[in-house]
Amino acid sequence: MGLFAVRRGEQVWVYVNSCPHVGLPLELQPHRFLDHKGERIICAAHGAKFLVEDGLCVGGPCMGDSLEAVAARVEGGNIVVDAEAGV
Ligand code: FES
Repeated sequence: MGLFAVRRGEQVWVYVNSCPHVGLPLELQPHRFLDHKGERIICAAHGAKFLVEDGLCVGGPCMGDSLEAVAARVEGGNIVVDAEAGV
């Protein structure tokens, strides 16, 4: 299933790459998870939009549901997550 990250400077948010609607991966093209403005995470299959900061769906068929967040941090320029995350 895998994880994906959205990074803004020293802030990072990591989620399991699975739409809460039917569990499809979110991206249509590799490494493209954001809408054209770069503001929201978007599900390519049905257009659901999620807040970057907490993964809450704010539009689309899974409105009110959330992406599964994974604790992460930036360390020495790298994104660090627990080894067990997203498996
Ligand atoms: S699979 Fe993403 S909104 Fe349906």
